[in-house]
Amino acid sequence: MAVDTLRCRICESDFPAVASGVCLRCFGPLEPVYDWEQVAREATREAIERGPRSLWRYAPLLPTAAPPDAAAGPGWTPLVPAPRLAQAVGVREVFLKLDHTNPTHSFKDRVVAVAAAKAAELGTDTLACASTGNLGNAVAARAAASGMRSVVLYPRTVEPEKLLATAVYGGDMYAVNGSYDDCSRLVVELAGELDWAFVNVNLRAYYAEGSKTLAFEIAEQLGWQTPDAVVSPVASGSLFTKLWQGFEQFRRLGLVDGQSPRIFGGQAEGCAPVAHAFADERPVSPIRPNTIAHSLAIGAPADGDLAIATARASGGGIYAVPEDEIGANVSLLAAMSGVFGETAAGVTLGALRAATEDGALGPEDRVVVLVTGTGLKTPQIIETRAGIEIEADVDELLEHIGVTA
Ligand SMILES: Cc1ncc(COP(=O)(O)O)c(C=O)c1O
Ligand SMILES: [Zn+2]
Repeated sequence: MAVDTLRCRICESDFPAVASGVCLRCFGPLEPVYDWEQVAREATREAIERGPRSLWRYAPLLPTAAPPDAAAGPGWTPLVPAPRLAQAVGVREVFLKLDHTNPTHSFKDRVVAVAAAKAAELGTDTLACASTGNLGNAVAARAAASGMRSVVLYPRTVEPEKLLATAVYGGDMYAVNGSYDDCSRLVVELAGELDWAFVNVNLRAYYAEGSKTLAFEIAEQLGWQTPDAVVSPVASGSLFTKLWQGFEQFRRLGLVDGQSPRIFGGQAEGCAPVAHAFADERPVSPIRPNTIAHSLAIGAPADGDLAIATARASGGGIYAVPEDEIGANVSLLAAMSGVFGETAAGVTLGALRAATEDGALGPEDRVVVLVTGTGLKTPQIIETRAGIEIEADVDELLEHIGVTA
């Protein structure tokens, strides 16, 4: 739906729905204001079920009209049961939301889809971002598909697989000698100079709304029911806060039965400003990241305090996951479910395990775990094996297997 107002989430000031990053009064995050009577008329279960098999089936709850190629959009990813994982961690049921099956193999295709639709509405010809890795892939791909220019700034330490998965689309790339937070500061400064669409700066209010579609899909795929809990990784905190908002919007519209789920989050110990502030019951203070979970390495998280408020309001929590458990968690997820997630998924699984260990989740709970990115982009953390070298000879093979002919 087209919206004409953005409202500050902190001081509630209203602004016109153009490309503006933060509240001019208090620097708080902005979000679109919907006409809820119109949303209620348009977003019925039947209308949604008739919609495209992409996130655009929820267009009445998004701040732009669906683009012409809505049917080919990201989203509508599988939600699959993982009974062996549920048993291993000690909860009633686990469902995995396979968001690494999006076009560029992470959930970032969702946020970029909405930001790019707004950029087209504004007539902008360049999509740009600061990225910890995955966002750049999604921006470069979407720009290529719509004939726009893309400009991506990365910290120089990003995984080579993520660079490749941006480079292939032919856009402009800058490898910054610094952290993600340095890249982020650079794009904020650039946004003051250029009228480009910086998806996570001046289009952040629209971009962030894309993450709500994860909540919408989970509820619809469970037969218009809510799970007891959702476990998510936390970097800037945007995904985490928007998950809760998505479930709350569905509940208020009467689209789901049951309460909204408790939302649990994970951060890697080497970059856990939100988890530590949650534990210490204080506001988030910026840190300098030092983690193998590069995609989550944001030391000054824009929505960190809102993520803490979300964890408390929903009855969830945010955990710091030890660095040396992240790789083991990725392997555990693979061995128990057949799903190969990236470091962020290792952190998410660590949060699930921490929540079961401290009793926040248990045998009563039906839990959805987000797999937000693919393991093939972060192979460095997994010990690979070449296999036993043999001649192309069946007797030799049988001998290795331990069967004598
Ligand atoms: C794979 C993956 N999962 C989760 C996140 C966290 O997103 P947010 O910044 O909305 O907290 C990111 C962010 O880059 C990511 O790449
Ligand atoms: Zn404000």
